[in-house]
Amino acid sequence: MDWFQYRDGQLFCEDVNLDKLASSVGTPVYVYSQRTFEHHFEELNKAFAELDPLICYSIKSCGNIHLIKLLADRGAGMDVVSGGELHRAKLAGVAMNKIVYAGVGKTDAEIREAIDADIGYFNIESEAEFENISAIARSLGKTAHGTLRINPDVSDPNTHAKTTTGKKETKFGVDIDRARKFFETYGRDEHCRLTAIHLHLGSPIYSPAPYVLAINKTLTLIEELRAKDLTIDTIDIGGGFAADYESGRSPSYETYAEAIVPLLKGKGLKVILEPGRTIAGNAGVLLARVQYIKTGGRKKFVIVDSGMHQLLRPAMYEAFHFIWPTNVAPQHEPSRRSEQMDMPGLEMTDIVGPICETGDILAKERGLPPVARGDLLAIFTAGAYGMVMASQYNAMPRPAEVLVSGSNATIIRRRETYEDLTALEMETASV
Ligand code: LLP
Repeated sequence: MDWFQYRDGQLFCEDVNLDKLASSVGTPVYVYSQRTFEHHFEELNKAFAELDPLICYSIKSCGNIHLIKLLADRGAGMDVVSGGELHRAKLAGVAMNKIVYAGVGKTDAEIREAIDADIGYFNIESEAEFENISAIARSLGKTAHGTLRINPDVSDPNTHAKTTTGKKETKFGVDIDRARKFFETYGRDEHCRLTAIHLHLGSPIYSPAPYVLAINKTLTLIEELRAKDLTIDTIDIGGGFAADYESGRSPSYETYAEAIVPLLKGKGLKVILEPGRTIAGNAGVLLARVQYIKTGGRKKFVIVDSGMHQLLRPAMYEAFHFIWPTNVAPQHEPSRRSEQMDMPGLEMTDIVGPICETGDILAKERGLPPVARGDLLAIFTAGAYGMVMASQYNAMPRPAEVLVSGSNATIIRRRETYEDLTALEMETASV
């Protein structure tokens, strides 16, 4: 569900015509719909309401401080994975006790900053990390709070190998046997209070079944630990809820919640969720302008002014993003977004970027209405893991970001300039 809709053949974000917007702010540009962002957050909250969850939005999915603020103002906490993301959360005015801090490689400096800021929980990934956090907390005269990330050895076969995290073989968390020992060894530590369990299975997870399996395993573990007089008061079930890359493919929030809520209700556990893409994904599009049309053998290439440097997902995970012109004839108005569009007059096309790599592909063998040089294309469901993974490869400045609310559009990150590309190289220093 999102507010990117065609009206008389023209694509709008809420009440803003995207062709007009692109003419005024230029391309490439990420455009976000405030209403979509907020809607997803509220709907997720509603679906899980019986558990009164703390929703910690995963900043890594889309971290513009103006977007973080939208959610923080609605009571969201944040899932961060670095000192930089914590910095963003601070600037956006997030309540620090609603921060969960994950990641396998937290540095001493990052841990210190987070303890100083009195964050909610560290999601702890190993014994060595626990000991380090506890020691740093003691040296600061503070008490840290930890959740142990367990690895329940559960995954979804539809999740890309590069984004599966819940399998035993990944670098994340500790397995359940090791978790028992972990709590016996550290569960009564005074400097890092370990009273919570965290899991994140990967993303996206296209059905509730892996959550059910993993949560059941975790609940058994919690019972065992409680029987040993250890306190477990919180469970963080991570993120991974799907976004609508293709119409109708992703489960609704209700479908996830119907399976998950009954398992956790009445268990004396505070519940944390860490959604990223399901909130941000459909809330953003990337607009790119057609530069050239070219044929090569039997292939037709549409070359645009954005590519793998600004939306890495197709090149990195063969991910599908629906791409369509922003201005189409009535018969080409899409009623749904899918890899196979059943319409007359489509041309088989590869949509590629300007980067000097064969892998710089946004879409392969896609039926597309006829387009010409100068036309504008929208790359949909690009809100999550889009701008945050953008680079300056080939010395291309990163795109601007625009937030739309109703008929208002605001630049929330200006387009980078050539000066931005080289500014840090002007600050040389001998060491
Ligand atoms: N919690 C933890 C501990 C995570 O590692 C992640 C994502 C999330 C929450 C949020 O997952 P989400 O709800 O957004 O699926 N770049 C890849 C995705 C990497 C995900 C990393 N962890 C992509 O573009 O698909």
